[in-house]
Amino acid sequence: MAWTAVAQDGELGVGQMKRIALSGKELLLVNAEGGYFCVDEMCSHEEFSLWFGCVKGRSIKCSLHGSYFDLASGKPLNEPAECPLATYPAKLEAGQIWVDAD
Ligand code: FES
Repeated sequence: MAWTAVAQDGELGVGQMKRIALSGKELLLVNAEGGYFCVDEMCSHEEFSLWFGCVKGRSIKCSLHGSYFDLASGKPLNEPAECPLATYPAKLEAGQIWVDAD
């Protein structure tokens, strides 16, 4: 485990995202229903950035073709995406949001 502080508590409102680069990966930190989540920035369908999508409940929607992904499991909730996003542990501790991208 290699936890890295990537944001301050309160920096992201619910439904907001932050792009982060960690361990050679381009990731999205998301404040969603249920807490903080970290997933790959690129949609698993056609390599389109989920940064342009929107957060709904505990899911994120790709704005290119409309697939939703569960932020906890990374699994697509509807077509056309079929492959899950990689997910990474995120936690709030000591006033900061930490991600383990290893
Ligand atoms: S690129 Fe995301 S659903 Fe097609």
